[in-house]
Amino acid sequence: MSNQQEQEYGYFDDVAKEYVITTPKTPYPWINYLGDTAFFSLISNTAGGYSFYKDAKFRRLTRYRYNNVPVDTGGRYFYIVDGDTVWSPAWKPLKTELDHYECRHGMGYSRISGMKDGVTSSVLFFVPQGEDLEVQHMTLTNSSLTTKKLKLFSFAEWCLWNAEDDMTNFQRNFSTGQVEVEGSVIYHKTEYRERRNHFAFYSVNESIQGFDTCRDSFLGDYNGFDSPEVVAKGQPNNSIAHGWSPIGSHYIEVELAPGESRDFIFTLGYVEMPQEQKWQAPGVINKTKALAAIERFDSVAKVEKSFKQLTDYWDDLLSKFVVISDDERLNRGVNIWNQYQNMVTFNMSRSASYFESGIGRGMGFRDSNQDLIGFVHLVPERARERIIDIASTQFEDGSAYHQYQPLTKRGNAAVGGNFNDDPMWLVQSVTVYIKETGDFSILEEQVPYDNDESKATSLFEHLTRSFNFITHNLGEHGLPLIGRADWNDCLNLNCFSMEPNESFQTTENKEGGRAESVMIAGQFVLFGNDYIELCRQLGKTAEAERAEGHVEQMVQAIKAHAWDGEWFLRAYDAFGKKVGTHEADESKIFIESQGFCTMAGIGKDDGKLQQSLDSVNKYLACDYGIVLNYPAFTEYKIEYGEISTYPQGYKENGGIFCHNNPWIMIGETVAGNGDRAFEYYTKIAPAYQDDKVKLHKTEPYVYAQMIAGKEAATPGQAKNSWLTGTAAWNYVAITQYILGIKPHYNGLQIAPCIPRDWTEYSVKRVFRDVTYDITIKNPEQHSSSIGWITVDGERIAGNVLPMFEAGSLHKVIVMLG
Ligand code: GLC
Ligand code: GLC
Repeated sequence: MSNQQEQEYGYFDDVAKEYVITTPKTPYPWINYLGDTAFFSLISNTAGGYSFYKDAKFRRLTRYRYNNVPVDTGGRYFYIVDGDTVWSPAWKPLKTELDHYECRHGMGYSRISGMKDGVTSSVLFFVPQGEDLEVQHMTLTNSSLTTKKLKLFSFAEWCLWNAEDDMTNFQRNFSTGQVEVEGSVIYHKTEYRERRNHFAFYSVNESIQGFDTCRDSFLGDYNGFDSPEVVAKGQPNNSIAHGWSPIGSHYIEVELAPGESRDFIFTLGYVEMPQEQKWQAPGVINKTKALAAIERFDSVAKVEKSFKQLTDYWDDLLSKFVVISDDERLNRGVNIWNQYQNMVTFNMSRSASYFESGIGRGMGFRDSNQDLIGFVHLVPERARERIIDIASTQFEDGSAYHQYQPLTKRGNAAVGGNFNDDPMWLVQSVTVYIKETGDFSILEEQVPYDNDESKATSLFEHLTRSFNFITHNLGEHGLPLIGRADWNDCLNLNCFSMEPNESFQTTENKEGGRAESVMIAGQFVLFGNDYIELCRQLGKTAEAERAEGHVEQMVQAIKAHAWDGEWFLRAYDAFGKKVGTHEADESKIFIESQGFCTMAGIGKDDGKLQQSLDSVNKYLACDYGIVLNYPAFTEYKIEYGEISTYPQGYKENGGIFCHNNPWIMIGETVAGNGDRAFEYYTKIAPAYQDDKVKLHKTEPYVYAQMIAGKEAATPGQAKNSWLTGTAAWNYVAITQYILGIKPHYNGLQIAPCIPRDWTEYSVKRVFRDVTYDITIKNPEQHSSSIGWITVDGERIAGNVLPMFEAGSLHKVIVMLG
């Protein structure tokens, strides 16, 4: 049940699927995401953040100042004037001490309440489904014994659309800003007169007694958001912005009798107009679409209906996989927050967070394929579309653009390809997709190369070319050439850069490219086996056998050339020297090759697999998780590249790069060691860190990309929360390999690998529209061996559950033994 036990900064409310923050002074802004298709907002626990339409760089609605002071500057702010007291219900920006504060981050919404001198303001923020706007539903309540005469000011600062230009091109931008005000709606129409067919609005469903649209007029000279002049004097200026920085601020006078409540619905929205309908009069924007949107949310009843639609949507999504165990932390991580983070990562890729500025890179080929394994069971149709988009940026030889642009869906030529782990991730995502959905038809889709339709082949052929890319690009030890980098973007073995303005990712100063990757070798065996299995499913026996020959050769090459005695080597460098060996002074052992080789089962027959895992436990594991390499580099090594630029214990140099920890968890399950697999899971799973919240700094409900490692100056401190492959991989590790509910071509496969002292747990899994209610019993303290399985009371042979008619429900008992 829900853990209502209050911690220093907040607690989980599992019944409501919320994290409840009880103080605005969290160690770092703790954010949430609103929106799930086109209109998105980031919102912190003090209402900081911003909104954008589809693209955080090119269509940013509101301004946000990254890496500024005070931290988290910019947001949707409210100011309440109550006699001599001025306060903000989300604490910021005024930072007046509140009598009570609470922020509830839920699934696609946040509710922030503040109370001061008997007045409570509670604001529910969400993006209604199918709408291009953010609702801010404020309820003001007077619980004092006297009548309150309040003055309410809202505030949003417009971004001039292109977020990068907005923060650099002041010689132009200070002259372009334009607004219109009509009734209670403030319209932001910068550049609408020329090439933009979109504008934004900020409205409230009450008549207003004034407004401001000019930031400098609202704030007064030299003031910050914490001391606006109009708020201080309690009177708006009704300013109209001409250039400089346009804002939207409503002014409302509210009188509340004792016990009285009033609701105000603010909407911050985006509208696109057809070219020929842009104007209603010369220079006056056509507001019909905007007004229609505003009207859809102009009453509490309408807002509540739409909010219920959102919560129902999430309840339904999160009903597809539900674990019920005695461990409430496990339940909340698996059932709520991990899946939620998977969806946010799907929507955002690596674009917009409090660590990703929304103006940077496009979507990664490898990142997107991996993200997919965490959300495919939630939104399979969108996974299908994503796969086709990704595969369309592949080259004819099976390699791929490393990134692509979400708006154009084209490969990013500035970055190019040559990250040699990229091709095989496509095999993973496609096989995972088919196992989840049973939709083999995707393999027949005609998919272009380099977005050139004339070169299209079947998607299956794309997988074959992915596979062949590896076999066509082997180095002198029979191991795959690494190219610019493999999964570890910072292990740049052909880069050799002494020029600070060169990119480690795209520079290759060393001709010849001899360096080989053991990580890709393990990845090739792991996903190569998936490819073989797929071929067999399709009856392509000859292709399966051909592929088996290559995979077997790779296993032999790894055993012959990639075993260091106690663990797997990481690579061979550009000179053919070993990387990740006991012979080196630093970085003797790396995690990635241990992860991929053990997940692939390499060395299970001769003890290498177990020994590799034991070495991870001995050298890489620590209290906060498993570090990437050890001992960390202490100086720049030109032949290794960016990895050696990070101070010890951070990022790819000895940090706990949470993305790769689940590879080891899965490796442990391959070895049959459920205790150790689960112990690693709890080391980094957010729900288990309640004693480390302050140290971690970042949100206690989501994974961060990195936790500082044991050699860091600040071990245990997390950074880069939210947008990371960590979410998807940990979800797969816990649900499929530890809890052991694994989609397979012919049905759900049951293969738990759990701590021996777990006696029972159950999982409700909706798989291809059939609900399986599975109880796993373990009275004799096993970890993974199955005694018997019954389905609706009948014993079945093997461990794959039969398929049934859509909509039906079946009871499964699994007895370990
Ligand atoms: C980041 C990148 C990912 C890479 C990882 C390790 O998470 O998004 O592509 O694999 O860093 O370098
Ligand atoms: C490093 C970062 C990763 C990023 C890459 C390229 O690998 O860890 O997050 O993708 O650099 O900028």
